[in-house]
Amino acid sequence: MNSPLLPTYARADLAFEKGEGVWLETREGERYLDFGAGIAVNALGHAHPHLVSALTEQAAKVWHTSNLFRIPEGERLAQRLVDHTFADLVFFTNSGAEALEASIKMARKYHSENGQPERYRIITFEGAFHGRTLATIAAGGQKKYLEGFGPKVDGFDQVPFGDRQAVIDAITPETGAILIEPIQGEGGIRPLPVQELRRLRELCDERGMLLILDEVQTGVGRTGKLFAHEWAGIAPDIMAIAKGIGGGFPMGACLATREAAKGMTVGVHGTTFGGNPLAMAVGNAVLDVVLEPGFLAHVERMGLLLKQRLAELQDRHPAIIAELRGQGLMLGLRTHVPNNDFVAAARQQHLLTIAAGDNVVRLLPPLIVTEADIGEAVRRLDAACAALEDEMRTLARQGVA
Ligand SMILES: Cc1ncc(COP(=O)(O)O)c(C=O)c1O
Repeated sequence: MNSPLLPTYARADLAFEKGEGVWLETREGERYLDFGAGIAVNALGHAHPHLVSALTEQAAKVWHTSNLFRIPEGERLAQRLVDHTFADLVFFTNSGAEALEASIKMARKYHSENGQPERYRIITFEGAFHGRTLATIAAGGQKKYLEGFGPKVDGFDQVPFGDRQAVIDAITPETGAILIEPIQGEGGIRPLPVQELRRLRELCDERGMLLILDEVQTGVGRTGKLFAHEWAGIAPDIMAIAKGIGGGFPMGACLATREAAKGMTVGVHGTTFGGNPLAMAVGNAVLDVVLEPGFLAHVERMGLLLKQRLAELQDRHPAIIAELRGQGLMLGLRTHVPNNDFVAAARQQHLLTIAAGDNVVRLLPPLIVTEADIGEAVRRLDAACAALEDEMRTLARQGVA
């Protein structure tokens, strides 16, 4: 393909013209069942009527004014996020990485404000993914994203995911915060046990550190709670969100307690586009639906059903599927075959899934997915597994495998 786009993505040769609910359609009219939701973004599926009307109504009024003026829809969205979380204050961004940048800066500023500017270091975890800016690739610590981009931004100390003692050992007088995803997404749907999250909360309290949660992928209902940390019954000091809150409109947010945010005063941080009226209208519309009574219970129910059906799929195809993990509608299959082969085989069946680290295939359907959609997806996964088994048998006959 001779494309003018910077070739940083290995794109599938597939383009979609429109979508409806959990379905996407190409220009040729071929329909695909979307169990990737644009990497956990299209929380309410495609072309959700409430989101479409919120966006188009706002588009006819005012698109952008900058943060030099009040944005009432943003104040309303912030208030609703505050009302439904631990947070007292919200800063809107355009993406997950920017929400993380704001979170990292806020944690550093907090300690500086307390007269301890040396406490700028943050403990992060192997396998983490926090974005692609210079600070967030340093926080994620993955060699493949750091290599060639000059000196790694200082201030991040990585320990193995879920290793409590390693966290304790990594704490120094310069440590100011712990940053973690409740379930690693890009890392391969690796959930942190709730007791470990509770222990990190205790550790932060004991040592005067801030707990920063990256709920960019786990947030806004994806696990069956509004935010995944609710399963552990704890609250962070700072939380980065994005993806689902915009339902496909680019936006994110950094949420914080008033105490954690105390250094973030006039002029210390900003964004031209973050929190603009279009994004705020859509964010409010997403919350209208996600906060409806019964919506999160639906996600939890569909998550359990999908997990059960995937467990049966694993039983039927043990040569293909090694392990099933995740929570709610954030599920992963670790495969024996290369995960990209599995994603391609599913795509052949017109089912969209997403590869992740640790040779995992992610299933992240829109949260509005129904029992019938799950049945259809599992039928397609069955066919994909059968095709991969056929391929393995052919290769074995040829003496390749
Ligand atoms: C957990 C997590 N944090 C941060 C990010 C970065 O978000 P964005 O790509 O919107 O900058 C992602 C994106 O996949 C993510 O999954």
